[in-house]
Amino acid sequence: MTIEQLETLLSDMTLEEKVYQLVQLTGQFYNGEAVITGPADSDMVTKECVRQAGSVLNTVGAKNIKGIQKEYMQNQSHHIPLLFMADIINGYKTIYPIPLAQGCSFDPEIVEKAAQEAAKEAAAAGLHVTFSPMADLVKDARWGRVMESTGEDAYLNGCMAEAMVKGYQGNDVKEKGRIAACVKHFAAYGAPTAGREYNNVELSETTLFDEYLPAYQAAIHAGAKMVMSAFNTLNRVPCTGNEWLMRKILREDMEFEGVLISDWAAIEQMILHGTAENLVQAAQIAMNAGVDIDMMTSVYADNLANLIKEGTVSQRFLDDAVRRVLNLKNDLGLFENPYKDADEEDEQAVILCDEHRKTALTLAEESFVLLKNEGVLPLKKEDTHVFLGPYTDNKEISGAWSFYADIEQNITIREAVEEKGTARNACFETMCGVFSGIRQIKSFQGDLDIPYLDLDLDENLKKMEEKIKNADTIVLALGEHYAQSGEAASRTEIQIPNIQMDLLKKVHQWNSNIVVVLFSGRPLDISGIVKYSKAVLAVWFPGIEGGAAIADVLYGDAEPGGRLTMSFPACAGQCPVFYNELPTGRPFKGQEKERFVSRYIDAPNAPLYPFGYGMTYTSFLYSKVKLSNDILTETSVITVNVTVENNGSRPGTEVVQMYIQDMAGSVSRPLRELKGFRRIHLAPGEKKNVEFVIEEEMLRFYNANLKYESEAGKFRVYVGGDSTRENSEEFTLVRSQEA
Ligand code: GLC
Repeated sequence: MTIEQLETLLSDMTLEEKVYQLVQLTGQFYNGEAVITGPADSDMVTKECVRQAGSVLNTVGAKNIKGIQKEYMQNQSHHIPLLFMADIINGYKTIYPIPLAQGCSFDPEIVEKAAQEAAKEAAAAGLHVTFSPMADLVKDARWGRVMESTGEDAYLNGCMAEAMVKGYQGNDVKEKGRIAACVKHFAAYGAPTAGREYNNVELSETTLFDEYLPAYQAAIHAGAKMVMSAFNTLNRVPCTGNEWLMRKILREDMEFEGVLISDWAAIEQMILHGTAENLVQAAQIAMNAGVDIDMMTSVYADNLANLIKEGTVSQRFLDDAVRRVLNLKNDLGLFENPYKDADEEDEQAVILCDEHRKTALTLAEESFVLLKNEGVLPLKKEDTHVFLGPYTDNKEISGAWSFYADIEQNITIREAVEEKGTARNACFETMCGVFSGIRQIKSFQGDLDIPYLDLDLDENLKKMEEKIKNADTIVLALGEHYAQSGEAASRTEIQIPNIQMDLLKKVHQWNSNIVVVLFSGRPLDISGIVKYSKAVLAVWFPGIEGGAAIADVLYGDAEPGGRLTMSFPACAGQCPVFYNELPTGRPFKGQEKERFVSRYIDAPNAPLYPFGYGMTYTSFLYSKVKLSNDILTETSVITVNVTVENNGSRPGTEVVQMYIQDMAGSVSRPLRELKGFRRIHLAPGEKKNVEFVIEEEMLRFYNANLKYESEAGKFRVYVGGDSTRENSEEFTLVRSQEA
């Protein structure tokens, strides 16, 4: 449709029709099928609401969606097509590693490829929009949705959010195999007080602008067609009713022109936040704040028309909102082809194809982080290995946002090792469940009594005692349950379940050559695990090819390519712990006798493993950082050079990271901030020069006057394999007139 035709359509629509375009319902109201991802109050929805709603969420399948669309459009007076949206977070049917793992690859290219493949599968299944990327910066491992983020750094999150948007959307969402991206949750949902889900967020504007907004901005600059409002209050104003955040910051400053959708029932929840007295006021506040679509309530449907008629809400606001929704449908080509790519044959051809599985395998290998290795990995194929633990042969390895996939497609560690035949002498025993006994876990499928293998650990230990004692290496596949992370899964204790620690300690009494393969949706408190093992490989929830990737890495057919994008705390009491903290007036220098300094008296300040950290099967030597100049002006650049050498015996990939510290500013500045990274692959003995470029705009921040500027003065640039390396040089930024 042309713009003129859209305007004609808009002017032809009645007030009621316009209001209903802003309503989104799950597919349960159309054909009874939908994943419910929030509190559902279905009797609030009238038949008229169903007949005229503008979009549907969480229903999938080409046949399904085509059926709904056909019937809907016959009853739609202007034949405006429905939008179909769903959470394609780390894949649709081919499940890739969870986003937190994908971030650890430090490889935006493969992340973009995975998103593109996910879009192809979702588009063939009839979807038009995914509620992804989640660009929320996260620092607190107690929060369950850290699994959906790419971590604690604004720059890295921006690179990953941009990659995902490009992967989903390409250059034109109308193209076959492309879907629109919805960046979420705007804003700062990842900073809930005390790490407790849906809790309030209190941030200074400096911190909000400097750390929490850049990744959303990167997604918007990459062309994201939609933004989703966050559940939380931001400095006591619910995001979904926050006019300053949505109309000033998002629309004006960040220049977002697309559709703003509420999160599930977030408009109605302003009553519970205590900022709306009733549903009428909730509708008014949300529309005045600029929220276009009301997800899964009838607050807009029941109240907007009257608010417009009585002049409380401007007609222009309503028309702008409807225009944005119609524009999105038009961008997707739905007026010409309301079914877009929905096609049963394509579904068969593209879903779970080998190419997608191969990407999932490679991305999993690149996302694994080797946290500890005292010479036991890679395993020797001719040795005897005993695989034990609840994740030895477990298909629940796709994470909390993979409910459209069939976990039977997932490859377990046992299946991979046996299929590959890599291990001549390997045996496998589950020994115990993820938890002991039957547990009830609330998850998207409702309150699940997930029957755990209520195995008798002591009995199984007796049975395996000789094999354990005689094995060259024990591989323990341990971890939290996938439903212990994700939405509504905050935890105060972030260790693996006790039964699994019992298993580890008892095995350790018989054989200390232990490798732990750790499954999790967050950084866990693994101090105990580290104490009783010689190697720890963090595999997150690795998705469909998880077992194959683990087998490849354990036996050295692939390397663990990941680096942490979120710090592993030494204990839950450290949370939130992150690398780019601010200095204090009384820094702790690490000497036990120090008092009157910023430290804990019962735990270290430093995390167990820091941002950017990850071991490989080789080692790398760095030359001293060299700068082309120690003076920088607004118009010049400084090139940073370092030579990296693989001085180990195996080929390997290093993630070379560049950090910059602003030594003094009008506000206190982080001890260091990631400003660049490069993945390089080196053969044994090979050296490579790595170059970064520093420009003045990289040094800008929100200063004491909330101006986004750089300030003249001294800076220090660090280059190394993680955020703690001291290989650095100093330079000075001067104003050009001083140069
Ligand atoms: C959920 C989540 C959001 C998701 C939406 C639709 O409550 O907060 O991330 O996209 O509902 O499923």
